[in-house]
Amino acid sequence: MAETAAKPKPKAKPMPHEGVFEPWNDPNAKPLIEFRNVTKRYGDFTAIDDLTLNIYEKEFFALLGPSGCGKTTMMRMLAGFESITQGRILLAGRDIGDVPPNKRSVNMMFQSYALFPHLSVWENIAFGLRRETKDAARITERVEEMLRLTRLEKFARRKPHQISGGQRQRVALARSLAKAPKLLLLDEPLGALDKKLREETQFELMDIQEKTGTTFVIVTHDQEEAMTVASRVAVMDEGRLVQVATPPVIYEAPNSIYVADFIGDVSLIQGKASARPETPVPAPPVSPTEDPAAKAAPAAMPEVPVASAAPLPDGRAPAPNVMGEWLHDKVLFPILGRRPPTPKALSAPDKAPAVPEPAPAPPESGTPESPPELPGGGLAIHWADGLDPLVAVNGDPALAGRTVTLAIRPEKVTISRDKPATDNAIEGTVIDIAYLGNISTYHVEIAGGVMVKAQMTNTRRIAKRDITWDDAVWIGFSATAGVVLDA
Ligand SMILES: Nc1ncnc2c1ncn2[C@@H]1O[C@H](COP(=O)(O)OP(=O)(O)OP(=O)(O)O)[C@@H](O)[C@H]1O
Ligand SMILES: [Mg+2]
Repeated sequence: MAETAAKPKPKAKPMPHEGVFEPWNDPNAKPLIEFRNVTKRYGDFTAIDDLTLNIYEKEFFALLGPSGCGKTTMMRMLAGFESITQGRILLAGRDIGDVPPNKRSVNMMFQSYALFPHLSVWENIAFGLRRETKDAARITERVEEMLRLTRLEKFARRKPHQISGGQRQRVALARSLAKAPKLLLLDEPLGALDKKLREETQFELMDIQEKTGTTFVIVTHDQEEAMTVASRVAVMDEGRLVQVATPPVIYEAPNSIYVADFIGDVSLIQGKASARPETPVPAPPVSPTEDPAAKAAPAAMPEVPVASAAPLPDGRAPAPNVMGEWLHDKVLFPILGRRPPTPKALSAPDKAPAVPEPAPAPPESGTPESPPELPGGGLAIHWADGLDPLVAVNGDPALAGRTVTLAIRPEKVTISRDKPATDNAIEGTVIDIAYLGNISTYHVEIAGGVMVKAQMTNTRRIAKRDITWDDAVWIGFSATAGVVLDA
């Protein structure tokens, strides 16, 4: 089998991660667009401030930020409609500072579509191609292809005023794509569409982007839209980039209060941070009057009188009888407090264990009643005098001693009448309830007037109105639910 040996080695099976599109993590990947310390000034006003950014081929890149932060200015510089005050922009490694707009292989789709009203859909799409080539067959072929891609074949002969807003938007898109630009800039392309059409069109855009392999840079006011369509999102503020990352990172690990607040719903709790020990610590005891778990876990009730649980001289635990229970409940309870719950094994005196546990038994793991052991590390956040600090195990210990803000998404916060067995539990009052069909968001005021949002899924069509306005409630969240940000 000498010939087999001479054959080139079969290609190694691709590793699962090879299919992942993330050129920004590949040090060898060459960016398609490079903003290098770009500044744009209008007189004294700085619209873009020393901005550096790489965008890669085939990316669907979203620029997100409040009105006036410089999104359109960035696009206009990229397309060549605006000069650069300082810095350089490179397209495929070439400085485009001196390249006129029509020679940049960049197409910009403006929000106001700018379709020619007197031309048919077909002619609108063909317009740019006619200026490029005289080859009629080539033009026809390309226009037909674009009509198919944007599902506009049926409307080819109509004028823009004879089609819907969404269809007009698709014509503008077809026209922008007809010349097969390397890069398509979309400035608020879906701004004029209603929510449903907008969502449909987002999926169409993603589909077209994937089919054509064009690099898309989209500007949007709508954070949900950015999260839906984009490979990466850049959050801008006053001419600067605040964070550039994938949608899940932007959402789950915002780098600042600005980004956390800008993207999605978030509650912010401020406090003084201190470092926590690395080793896991037992959960703080839960107060017996509030915690139903305490009923089944005597270990969690150290402050309750435990005289009745004292072992008998022969080593057996006392076995309460019916009369004893009745007497305790009616006579002793008002004086001494709650009787410790009767462990199951004690319910029948003859089955009482020979030797009672001298120390409280650790709660059984896995039972919902067991308060979980808190993982070690991270930060404790002292947010209100006299109340337990909040635990954030993912907090950077370098922030110890500083004032920090814990940012938590509503879907990570539970709401209940009783104290939950979560790492963090805070008492509060329901101020407002937003019913959103499948979910309800509760606005809960906690100490110091801080508002925290908690979300609950409405599994039943008619939700049991268990918790309502002005109710005293508990909110709970895990030690990993929030993000600790430098306040
Ligand atoms: N020709 C101009 N002369 C002076 N200032 C300008 C000019 N064009 C834009 N600006 C200013 O530059 C800033 C950025 O404008 P830009 O149009 O880029 O904002 P934007 O992020 O696109 O906002 P929007 O979301 O409202 O479209 C704004 O404060 C704007 O007033
Ligand atoms: Mg704009």
